[in-house]
Amino acid sequence: MQIISTTQALRDRLKTEPSVAFVPTMGNLHQGHLALIRQAREQGRCVVVSIFVNPLQFGPNEDFANYPRTFEQDCAKLAGLADVVFAPMVADLYPEPQQVFIDLPPVAAELCGTFRPGHFRGVATVVLKLFNIVQPQAAVFGKKDYQQLHVIRAMVRQLNLPVEIVAGETLRAGDNLALSSRNAYLTAEDRTEAVRLYWNLALIRESIIAGNSDFSALECAAIADLEAHGWRVDYVSVRAAESLAPAKIGEMNLVVLAAAWLGKTRLIDNLEICLNADKGL
Ligand code: PAJ
Repeated sequence: MQIISTTQALRDRLKTEPSVAFVPTMGNLHQGHLALIRQAREQGRCVVVSIFVNPLQFGPNEDFANYPRTFEQDCAKLAGLADVVFAPMVADLYPEPQQVFIDLPPVAAELCGTFRPGHFRGVATVVLKLFNIVQPQAAVFGKKDYQQLHVIRAMVRQLNLPVEIVAGETLRAGDNLALSSRNAYLTAEDRTEAVRLYWNLALIRESIIAGNSDFSALECAAIADLEAHGWRVDYVSVRAAESLAPAKIGEMNLVVLAAAWLGKTRLIDNLEICLNADKGL
């Protein structure tokens, strides 16, 4: 496994690679990331993983400075899984102030976009830059960040990028808490409580499968339960899986997404609800 830290060196290394599969990350790798990297192995001959905490996607009061940086441990986890680790410095990826951005579809200003203005613009910009540097034939993104996956897919389609976007399932801990680098911020007590977010999403999914289509009542009940247990809820929202538009009665493929704060930690999660398949279970 090679570790490369400059754009030029990476371009030189990949010049002769006919098939590259790419997994962009911000490091502090856990099993969820590693599962995406194993999935990438099926997509291309050379697997490139980037580790870059992207300042552009953090708001002024967010955790950019404190985001867990564990480069040595990350590389140890990647040995044998990745062919190339690309870990550029901020100055290498942003040698001048980034003033060129792409406009995203309106859905990027909803859900997490409402609470993290500019976040998806920062994500899309860095992903486009990374795609241009790595020039992968496929790139793997986790469903854990469902809205991010949606925005990246829209960017790739609407800007005709020659990259196949592959989605990876959300990996969860034994108690069903979605794995996340930010779980490291949780106190022991909050870690036990954190799974309530999943419980509420699972309850909404069960209710919808059982025939309840009063989505806003289900959302309100989940928010009330979380708030009663000390959470500060950004949103709980049932959406159409394909468009992320608010869910309408009769739609078969839905997703329920949520973001909420437990102490100083913001957690997100989502569950897909496929009415055809789920009803057949
Ligand atoms: P990061 O949060 O490090 O996540 C990197 C990739 O891992 C994303 O595609 C994310 O959806 C996926 N992932 C995170 N937790 C997961 C889990 N429990 N199961 C499966 N996949 C999971 O997302 C980012 O970084 C950044 O926004 C990035 C795309 C790298 C741009 O800076």
